[in-house]
Amino acid sequence: MHPLSPKTYAPVDLVPFGGVYLRQKAAQAAEEMFAAASVEGVGITALSGYRSYETQVGTYNSWVATYGQEQADVASARPGYSEHQTGLALDIGTGGACDVQVCFKDTDAARWSAAHAHEYGFVLRYPWWQHETTGYWYESWHFRYVGRAEAAAFHSSGAPTLEDFWGFALSSSE
Ligand code: DAL
Ligand code: ZN
Repeated sequence: MHPLSPKTYAPVDLVPFGGVYLRQKAAQAAEEMFAAASVEGVGITALSGYRSYETQVGTYNSWVATYGQEQADVASARPGYSEHQTGLALDIGTGGACDVQVCFKDTDAARWSAAHAHEYGFVLRYPWWQHETTGYWYESWHFRYVGRAEAAAFHSSGAPTLEDFWGFALSSSE
């Protein structure tokens, strides 16, 4: 996991999208992606986009309070380490009971996104059983915008994770 620099970094070009905020290019791409899914009868909603350092303090602390630090660290980024703080990460959902749950992977929204997100510049960041590389459990809902060319190159490379594709080794949080 790599920290933001500075850890309290905030993007300057956040725009509203579907009830959350994303950086401008990511919001534009997400709008196109959701529209394309909708044309195919797949409804997708935005559950979480930009989260500030301060918001992540609360998010991480609530995980620690519920599950303890060891489990929290594989489910939630520490403040200053979340991709959500970049304004480029988007958690998708359907408004159903499986939102942000393991069973989300079996929804049309998750299947469609796993197959098509790269066409819009998004990649699934925390794939199944790649926690030793990514640092986090499988999140079938968490996508990160990297741009169309990069997402397409990652997709066609067959690399299991963005870390493998970019040649990053997992470094522990300080
Ligand atoms: N749940 C992801 C890892 C985050 O907190 O950014
Ligand atoms: Zn997420």
